[in-house]
Amino acid sequence: GRASGGTPMKQRLLVVANRLPVSAVRRGEDSWSLDISAGGLVSALLGVKEVDAKWIGWAGVNVPDEKGQRALTEALAEKRCIPVFLDEEIVHQYYNGYCNNILWPLFHYLGLPQEDRLATTRSFQSQFDAYKRANQMFADVVNEHYEEGDVVWCHDYHLMFLPKCLKEYNSSMKVGWFLHTPFPSSEIHRTLPSRSELLRSVLAADLVGFHTYDYARHFVSACTRILGLEGTPEGVEDQGKLTRVAAFPIGIDSERFKRALELPAVKVHIGELTQRFAGRKVMLGVDRLDMIKGIPQKILAFEKFLEENPSWRDKVVLLQIAVPTRTDVPEYQKLTSQVHEIVGRINGRFGTLTAVPIHHLDRSLDFHALCALYAVTDVALVTSLRDGMNLVSYEFVACQGSKKGVLILSEFAGAAQSLGAGALLVNPWNITEVANSIASALNMPADEREKRFRHNYAHVTTHTAQDWAETFVSELNDTVVEAQLRTRQ
Ligand code: G6P
Repeated sequence: GRASGGTPMKQRLLVVANRLPVSAVRRGEDSWSLDISAGGLVSALLGVKEVDAKWIGWAGVNVPDEKGQRALTEALAEKRCIPVFLDEEIVHQYYNGYCNNILWPLFHYLGLPQEDRLATTRSFQSQFDAYKRANQMFADVVNEHYEEGDVVWCHDYHLMFLPKCLKEYNSSMKVGWFLHTPFPSSEIHRTLPSRSELLRSVLAADLVGFHTYDYARHFVSACTRILGLEGTPEGVEDQGKLTRVAAFPIGIDSERFKRALELPAVKVHIGELTQRFAGRKVMLGVDRLDMIKGIPQKILAFEKFLEENPSWRDKVVLLQIAVPTRTDVPEYQKLTSQVHEIVGRINGRFGTLTAVPIHHLDRSLDFHALCALYAVTDVALVTSLRDGMNLVSYEFVACQGSKKGVLILSEFAGAAQSLGAGALLVNPWNITEVANSIASALNMPADEREKRFRHNYAHVTTHTAQDWAETFVSELNDTVVEAQLRTRQ
């Protein structure tokens, strides 16, 4: 559209995600300090120049009192963020329960929880009810801030019920939904007790997006096989209404990494790390401490490599950064102790008085420290058992301008479809295969490393997060226009 002065009006965009890109800390009754995360998704969604974007989501904190809620809302408004307030019980049932204990493992092929069937069925129902209630609360906030012509972009498995709630408020709202995880085979999805209701509510959107064609295809076949609807090359059709389904592979803001590597402080840090690990090859893993990341499998493969290659034992180090996540969910607590146990055993077995083979950190690093670490790495190890995309692999490539290190990448990460030709692809369940790939990576001749790196670098720097966001939003606009034309015919 155009404003009266003839200047093009910016497209208004409401981004809705479970989590706002901020961490909020309460300083007093009505004062908050906010730390906005500048990650790739944030710069992608808030950084598109032609778009006037606002972000709607949960601030990740419990704020029971109205005074605190008002103060936080005001503080967030300056950051273009709008909070959805969820109480502790809802967070427990919706976020810890239905999202992270049911949908997350199921979508990553880890199946439904295995406890006593009856108990599971009972708690399943109350968690699903809480999920729907939470989605309705997000819809209420969107509806409050919606203006005609806005594009509403819903994100991820937390908000599969949202498109339906939004269309019930206003059937002409332009609604897109994008899934950041894999969408599993219909044979997996059909085990979910609420399989049909979830599919139907996603189909209320105008455009449904996934990282890869495989995920899009799985979704369409779930709709045909479970709901009996018609799948077309364009998407899914239900009584003449088409929901567009397509693949939009995400990327990173590669310029941001390039700029960081030019900073004097980062260069100093790179120098320090190089000295610290002189005489040893650096292998790196960076993951949220999540069972889908295959961290135990990765460490066991590294152990096997050390076992079989004694000459490498004092010439290589594995740095594993494991960022704690969803620590209230018991499965994640179990994983933490399992990883600690394995790391301890291997360091006990192969360590010396002056060096250990694995440095394991239970925390995140700030952006600049992470860039420096990527830059000094010889081999990056991404061994996800399943992963929607995996942007760590992209970030590593973006920081490897001078080193041209090797990426070992799970074939079950979405990124394998874009970086497959440059990476060494592995089946992370096959410990022997991963151990062999570690040996190949460490011994790879410089010209082959260079060739593989060029391929990946070209991809990472040309398929950016900004392109991804722009493509999705413009496709959503086109989809709605086409649908209007169709109904007028
Ligand atoms: C995955 C999900 C995101 C989520 C992130 C961190 O990447 O796709 O939606 O925000 O993990 O998890 P958390 O539960 O801490 O938000």
